[in-house]
Amino acid sequence: MKKAVSITVNGKTHTSEIEPRLLLVHFLRDALGLTGTHVGCETSICGACTVLLDGQSVKSCTMFAVQADGLSVTTIEGLAANGALHPVQEGFWECHGLQCGYCTPGMIMSSAQLVDRNPNPTDEEIRHGLEGNLCRCTGYQNIVEAVKYAANKTLAASGD
Ligand code: FES
Ligand code: FES
Repeated sequence: MKKAVSITVNGKTHTSEIEPRLLLVHFLRDALGLTGTHVGCETSICGACTVLLDGQSVKSCTMFAVQADGLSVTTIEGLAANGALHPVQEGFWECHGLQCGYCTPGMIMSSAQLVDRNPNPTDEEIRHGLEGNLCRCTGYQNIVEAVKYAANKTLAASGD
């Protein structure tokens, strides 16, 4: 039996009837057409499906969409504000933090949370914070540089 849910995604509230077994990643990709959230392992290992749920990074391949009822989801499509890239997106661009790009949306969502929680992370803290995201292109060093770029930019903007 379908269940009525109301889920806010990137600032827009969607009310619909969905199957309780529908995974959040499929709700985002198939029901809403937000294909920036990728599907990789489907077992909570690779992090390609990472989104923010009320500001907290979650792997959308291993939670049901009904669990997001009443909550707010941010996907990679909702990260840029007013036409300006999020500092983490800018960092990935400037520091060449992507190769094929498959892991990139998930990496960026996890990095956004990381920088939000720790505005001045060490290399070790960045690597630890991104442990749940795998890159098969093995470009980890540039990803670390991208997160440092974002942290520096955020700190400079806050005047600290
Ligand atoms: S697809 Fe969700 S963690 Fe890999
Ligand atoms: S850039 Fe290809 S998997 Fe990470």
